[in-house]
Order: sequence, then structure tokens, then C-alpha cells
Amino acid sequence: MMRHKLHRYTIYCSVVLCITLCSIPAFSQEDTVLKVEAFGTLERPISAFDHDTHNEKAEIQDCAVCHHVYKDGKLVEGESSEDQACSECHTLKAQGSQPGLRMAYHRQCKECHVEKKKGPVACGECHVKK
Ligand code: HEC
Ligand code: HEC
Ligand code: HEC
Ligand code: HEC
Repeated sequence: MMRHKLHRYTIYCSVVLCITLCSIPAFSQEDTVLKVEAFGTLERPISAFDHDTHNEKAEIQDCAVCHHVYKDGKLVEGESSEDQACSECHTLKAQGSQPGLRMAYHRQCKECHVEKKKGPVACGECHVKK
């Protein structure tokens, strides 16, 4: 009888814990890592992108896949720019072969999704209306 009660108590606690964890607000628009200030007023809702969860699910270990460093138009292996926003290098307008900010995001995000045949490629799948 005692053991039975203890077991029920454990289940009760797990349920309470689950509900508590689930009610912590999911990555909201306000605390996204995407640095969108450079765009000014946004035409679309900020794209979905939960940094760590995304990279874990997508199994990307190398930070430089996204946070790259170029020198004289060549990708520098083994260096990463994770301390910089995309917009610190990518201005709104393209500069030579360096794509403009919107194109930079779109190319980086979509090219990989197309290549891997995984992840969203349609506008509304990333720019989800809230
Ligand atoms: C799939 C692409 C991708 C990968 C892989 C990736 N990041 Fe990022 N990361 C981003 C984007 C996009 C931003 C937002 C930057 C922006 O919008 O200017 C960002 C932002 C950041 C920031 C700034 C966070 C903030 O709130 O200011 C840090 C730090 C960071 N990444 C570190 C890392 C590290 C460390 C790794 C490797 C373990 C990594 N990233 C892998 C895409 C990526
Ligand atoms: C330290 C400066 C710097 C930062 C930070 C940076 N880039 Fe770049 N990026 C460049 C340069 C320079 C080029 C152009 C290379 C060339 O001339 O072909 C480039 C090229 C690109 C390209 C086209 C070539 C390719 O690799 O596919 C994309 C897409 C891109 N960047 C996306 C991004 C995104 C998204 C971020 C933020 C996560 C970012 N970049 C952060 C400097 C930077
Ligand atoms: C190097 C490859 C790669 C890059 C770059 C990349 N993704 Fe992904 N993304 C994936 C993969 C693979 C998945 C599918 C993961 C899975 O199995 O669920 C995915 C899934 C997603 C999803 C579905 C929900 C989720 O988080 O799993 C969203 C949203 C997404 N990506 C947004 C982005 C955005 C925004 C960018 C650019 C800032 C980006 N991705 C860059 C590979 C990438
Ligand atoms: C793989 C995800 C992804 C897809 C698919 C995608 N975008 Fe984006 N888009 C982004 C990211 C990331 C940014 C930069 C951060 C932000 O504004 O969300 C961006 C930025 C933008 C911007 C500049 C910011 C603004 O709102 O003014 C516009 C406009 C835009 N996208 C429109 C579109 C349209 C139209 C499509 C379909 C043709 C599309 N996007 C498809 C991820 C995506």
C-alpha cells in the first residue's frame, strides 16, 4: 500500500514538472538571436530560428558553416565570426560578390535546406504569422 502511494506521488510530481516546463514561453519573437535592426521596419514576421535546438537537430557541429570568415574572397578554414552579427559585414545592399543582408540570410538558410532536403523553404514556413 505504501509503495503504491509513493508511486502515485512520483507520477503526480512528474506531471506537475511537465506542465511547468511546457508553460515556459517558447522562444518568442522578442528574444530571437536574429539581428534584424538593420532592416528597419520588417515586412514579414521574424523568421523562426531557435539557434541551439536548430543546430542540434540539424547536426551541425562546425560554427563556421554559418559564422564564416572570408579573406580576399576566399573562405578561411578554421576561423569563425560567431561574435559578429551578419549585418556587421552584410550591408542591406550587396557589395560585389558579398550578398546583401536579406540575400545573405536567404541563401544561407535555404541553400542548406534544399541540399539536405530538410527544413523549410517556403516563405510562410520561416516567416510564421503569430
Ligand atoms: C545554421 C547556422 C548557424 C550555426 C551552425 C551556428 N550559428 Fe550562431 N547564429 C546564427 C545566426 C543566423 C545568428 C544570428 C546572427 C544575426 O542575425 O546577425 C547566430 C547568433 C549567434 C550568437 C549571438 C547570439 C546573441 O544572442 O547575440 C552567438 C554567440 C553564436 N551564434 C554562436 C554560435 C556558436 C558557438 C556556434 C557553433 C557551436 C554557432 N553559433 C553555430 C547561425 C548559426
Ligand atoms: C566577418 C564578416 C562576415 C560575417 C560576420 C558574415 N559574413 Fe557572410 N560573407 C562575408 C563575405 C566577405 C562574403 C563574400 C565572399 C565572396 O566574396 O564571395 C560573404 C558571403 C556570404 C554568402 C554567399 C557565399 C556563401 O557562403 O554562401 C552568404 C549566403 C552569407 N555570406 C551569409 C551570411 C550570414 C547568414 C551571416 C550571419 C550568420 C554571415 N554571412 C556573416 C562576410 C561575412
Ligand atoms: C548547414 C545546413 C543548415 C543551415 C545553414 C540552416 N538550416 Fe535550418 N535546418 C537544417 C536541417 C537539416 C533541418 C531539419 C532538422 C530536422 O531534422 O528536423 C532544419 C530545420 C529548420 C527549421 C525547422 C524547425 C527546426 O528548428 O528544426 C527551421 C525553422 C529552420 N531550419 C530555419 C533556418 C534558418 C532561419 C536558417 C538560417 C539562419 C537555417 N535554418 C539554416 C539545416 C540547416
Ligand atoms: C529558411 C527560412 C526562410 C525562408 C524560407 C524565407 N525567409 Fe525571408 N528571411 C529569413 C531570415 C532568417 C531573415 C532575416 C531575419 C528576419 O527578418 O526574419 C529573412 C528576411 C526577410 C526579409 C527582410 C526583413 C523584413 O521582414 O523586411 C523579407 C522581406 C523576407 N525575408 C521575405 C521572404 C519571402 C518573400 C520569402 C519567400 C519567397 C522568404 N522570405 C523565405 C528566413 C527565411
